[in-house]
Amino acid sequence: MKPTIAPYPLTRFRRARQLQAVRGLVRENTLTTDDLIWPVFVRDGEGVEEPVPSMPGVMRRSVDQIAKAAVEAQALGIPAICIFPYTDPSLKTEDCAEAWNPDNLSNRAIRAIKAAAPDIAVMTDVALDPYNINGHDGYVVDGEIVNDKTVEALVKMTLAQAEAGADIIGPSDMMDGRIGEMRRALESSGHQNVMILSYAAKYASAFYGPFRDAVGASGALTGDKKTYQMDPANSNEALRLIERDLTEGADMVMIKPGMPYLDICRRVKDTFGAPTYAYQVSGEYAMIQAAAQNDWIDGEKAMLESLLAFKRAGCDGILTYFAPEVARILQG
Ligand code: PBG
Repeated sequence: MKPTIAPYPLTRFRRARQLQAVRGLVRENTLTTDDLIWPVFVRDGEGVEEPVPSMPGVMRRSVDQIAKAAVEAQALGIPAICIFPYTDPSLKTEDCAEAWNPDNLSNRAIRAIKAAAPDIAVMTDVALDPYNINGHDGYVVDGEIVNDKTVEALVKMTLAQAEAGADIIGPSDMMDGRIGEMRRALESSGHQNVMILSYAAKYASAFYGPFRDAVGASGALTGDKKTYQMDPANSNEALRLIERDLTEGADMVMIKPGMPYLDICRRVKDTFGAPTYAYQVSGEYAMIQAAAQNDWIDGEKAMLESLLAFKRAGCDGILTYFAPEVARILQG
């Protein structure tokens, strides 16, 4: 689009900014509660709500408390909740068998949420890191993160989550070929309506630090994730990954992290037009909260501005730890 602009003073951009009412009239993008997916952390126990120190305002909740939180989220109109387990270290093994245990923490949380808040969509995380003794998303064999054997495990994990009632499967592992394998397994096991939101363009990022604390993976992780997560320098590769995942049967795609990668969001939306999501990750959340706690920025305004930016960049929605706070503000 080539904008037509009459020369000054015929055109004065400030005219349309004078009245709040007109600012609303000319506004190009809006953030609504419909845009929110709320990531939550689940842990063992009962009646437990344990703060995550590096993510002020975020809790690890026991299954009963997660169900309660889901009821509140549903009442606020939040469309989806995404579960991440803080797994007891004693359940972390080399074969990661806990990942597809039908009664693992995550699967119990899925069932509890579906029972308590049936109208909220439940999204999961598919990756081995919460169950892996070395903190990696895939199996480690002789120091290498092996692809195909990991994909087999991820498929088992996917099916256990679908059995437990998950609506949206969220593979965050970045192995090659996993979307197709998961989609075929879901199709052939009667779960053809279960969706896949692929973490298609996931970068090897320093912004995941607080999350790894929250799920208890920071201590466990040996080395880094650069052999499977993307190089932050790359942009064309993101488009190739998104295309690959869409052709393998992903229903929706994600870019992660969010704010440092808005250029990728825009390219992805313009190129494919698919339902596109960004993950405002733990480090982005922590930065806003930390600055707000020091009175260096207005936390509420920064939160809303950061989320609106995703809409402007073409995203259909955002995974954000701010979801309940935003929904409360938007509800008025
Ligand atoms: C791991 C996973 C990560 C996040 C979601 N799933 C961390 C990682 O890749 O190490 C990060 C989310 C966040 O930082 O908020 N499968």
